[in-house]
Amino acid sequence: MNLPTMDTLPSTHFDGVDLLALAGRHGTPLYAYSASAIRQRIAGLQLALHGMDATICYAVKANGSRAILELMAQAGLGADIVSAGELQRALRAGIPPERIVFSGVGKNDDEIGEALAAGIQRFNVESLDELHAIERIAGERGATARAAVRINPDVDALTHAKISTGKSENKFGVSIAEARRWFDARATLRHVRLDGLHVHIGSQILSLEPYRLALQRVAAFWRELRDAGHPVASIDVGGGLGVRYRDGDVTIAPADYVAVIREALAGFDGRLLLEPGRYLVAEAGVLLTRVLRIKHGEARDFLVLDAAMNDLARPSLYDAWHDIVPVSGEARPQAIYDVVGPVCETGDTFAQARALPACAAGDLVMIRGTGAYGASMASTYNSRPLAAEVLLDHGRHALIRRRQTLDEMLAGEQSASQWETT
Ligand code: LLP
Repeated sequence: MNLPTMDTLPSTHFDGVDLLALAGRHGTPLYAYSASAIRQRIAGLQLALHGMDATICYAVKANGSRAILELMAQAGLGADIVSAGELQRALRAGIPPERIVFSGVGKNDDEIGEALAAGIQRFNVESLDELHAIERIAGERGATARAAVRINPDVDALTHAKISTGKSENKFGVSIAEARRWFDARATLRHVRLDGLHVHIGSQILSLEPYRLALQRVAAFWRELRDAGHPVASIDVGGGLGVRYRDGDVTIAPADYVAVIREALAGFDGRLLLEPGRYLVAEAGVLLTRVLRIKHGEARDFLVLDAAMNDLARPSLYDAWHDIVPVSGEARPQAIYDVVGPVCETGDTFAQARALPACAAGDLVMIRGTGAYGASMASTYNSRPLAAEVLLDHGRHALIRRRQTLDEMLAGEQSASQWETT
């Protein structure tokens, strides 16, 4: 059941696939995901939840590739979506609408309408204005929307500020005081069944305490609602489980996480929803990239890769650490590099002063822990086409996204030849 830790992964093979041969076949930059590692993560979480009325709604934003979503569908998972695009991805991958929850602070009218038409399980509602929009749109369609209020518990998730979501100054959710008013006015809602609670305090969480605190607050509110006669059919505890990006990162074991949930929500007999993203896919992915050249600068040596911040934005956005490992079986002396991409920004840096086995132009290198928020956050900045993606499974591999062509990248653009006045 144990996922091999990144240390024990052989650096020439991943999920039984020879990475040098793989890169030779598909080119670089190339994202490679291990299906077995993803299945192991799913199974581990499912085991921890055994016996509970729980649905894992995978957070599509972490990695929305069709083949990845199909793995989730095959394992019986649902989806946590934040846009009509993610709704379509989830549906096309075979995730049943009744296992789809819709989160996000800025759902527009069309997206709300599409989600209603698809028959999703529920909306995680983030503001009173949104609640009214859902009421109006459901009314126009003669539908009833199911809704959960996203509680902002004002808890510090002790993670990077840019991925912290549960403090009162963050844009997400509403206070318990406001949620109480929504439930008190529940009878005025004719097209929305408000019978759920939702909380998501942040991402890459490595400590149980913030979870415990947030869930205790949500549980106290649930008990209050129950005593006031408001039915609460589901409690969605969000995602956020952290992964091991580097030596020293101590992650939360699924059993410990679930124990905290069980304890906080003791007595709750409705459905539990979970929205993990990163936990299921991050460590199952590597970004394969080639060394274009070594540049000896005045102050330091630069390892210039053919992958850049447009392929993997996490280091430049969050100063995130990703292990960088040459794909090679041979022992080499250590060297110190700034590992950079070709994009014309100083921020296009994957690592600074990193000790690595010495590299040469043409070497294949992998950037680990990139299965989550890697390809899904990629752009074509500097007019660099989107990288290809492959799925690995016990020695086999399948291309799941071909490299974007230049024509595909430019599709949709045209000269300003047809001027109109409004
Ligand atoms: N549920 C909601 C409502 C969310 O906003 C998120 C992530 C998740 C679940 C899944 O969280 P996870 O289990 O993956 O931590 N781009 C950033 C992470 C942004 C997370 C956004 N929300 C990064 O690369 O670290």
